[in-house]
Amino acid sequence: MSITKQGILDALKQVIFFKKQNNIVDLGMVHELHVTGNQVRISVVFPELADPSVAIVVNSINKVLKTEFGNDITVDIKPMSEKELGKGPLAGVKNIIAVISGKGGVGKSTVAANLAIALSKAGKSVGILDADIMGPSVPIMLGVEGEKPGLIERDGKGIMIPLENYGIKILSIGFFVAANQALMWRGSMINNAFNQLMTDSEWGNLDYLVIDMPPGTGDIQLTLAQSYNIKGTVLVTTPQKIATADVRRAAMMYRQEKLVIPLLGIVENMSFFIPDDMPDKKYYIFGRGATDALASELDIPVLGRIPIVEKIVETGDNGRPISLDENSPVTRAFSDIASHVMKQVELLDTVNASN
Ligand SMILES: Nc1ncnc2c1ncn2[C@@H]1O[C@H](COP(=O)(O)OP(=O)(O)OP(=O)(O)O)[C@@H](O)[C@H]1O
Ligand SMILES: [Mg+2]
Repeated sequence: MSITKQGILDALKQVIFFKKQNNIVDLGMVHELHVTGNQVRISVVFPELADPSVAIVVNSINKVLKTEFGNDITVDIKPMSEKELGKGPLAGVKNIIAVISGKGGVGKSTVAANLAIALSKAGKSVGILDADIMGPSVPIMLGVEGEKPGLIERDGKGIMIPLENYGIKILSIGFFVAANQALMWRGSMINNAFNQLMTDSEWGNLDYLVIDMPPGTGDIQLTLAQSYNIKGTVLVTTPQKIATADVRRAAMMYRQEKLVIPLLGIVENMSFFIPDDMPDKKYYIFGRGATDALASELDIPVLGRIPIVEKIVETGDNGRPISLDENSPVTRAFSDIASHVMKQVELLDTVNASN
């Protein structure tokens, strides 16, 4: 039987890239394919090369082709990274930062939205992706509620154009799912929607893509984090011991051996309350000390502390993040957090460059 390119492609549809829950042909991962006699040369593009899934896919290609075409076939497989090709959908995105927490309601979306604004005010080009299916609140907080992203077709594929407001590119998993249906979504559906938002979208050139991750430490969080080259995570907590316990669990998940995503630091939200009529007073309503203890236990910095301020709720609901205000104490706090994040990222780049 003579071996044809089409025959090889058909066979390769049996090779699944589990992270994206589809086969490597339909995912467009087969970059080059040359067939001469019984010699086959293939280059396969992965989101990143330093990942166990690369070896699994390579083994699986060998096995499938030998089973289909016999042991005489010689297969030469070259794994490549999207970055290397300079053309992956996220090749223009320099740093992906995931905002995470172990617990809902601690202010993850508030921190993600204001961090995005603060980075943008620092002169960076920024996008934000809302991956929290249970409470996609970023579009509300950034004033694009009810709007839908644009859609264009490229190479027979639908490509989403992010919405834009305050100079920030915005996409949300909420565009795919009605609020009352979120509970019915299974993991694979969430993965698919997330992949589309990440890679079938025109993010263009960004210094930072901030992801508002779903709270918790389940499979979803793990798969999402594993599938992309995330530069680091920002942990959000509130000062209560019980909240830091949940955050510790989330931190440990992101730190486990197979994942190794650097924890950039902790943002303590709702740290203290300052009464309007007594600006010199700080009330530590939720207690003090638990966040510092966690930070030193994990050996990561506290990136900043955000007070409890009524205006955060108001501005969140009105779609105009508080960080857009000139010179409020909260604006300054978020601007410090953004500086801290940028510094941590620079540090990581220096370490990576010297390795
Ligand atoms: N520092 C703060 N001061 C006052 N209110 C705050 C503060 N931070 C957040 N909030 C309010 O608390 C509520 C929850 O915040 P947010 O939606 O950011 O949390 P979350 O962790 O993303 O929640 P979820 O788990 O539901 O996604 C919002 O109404 C928000 O405006
Ligand atoms: Mg949220």
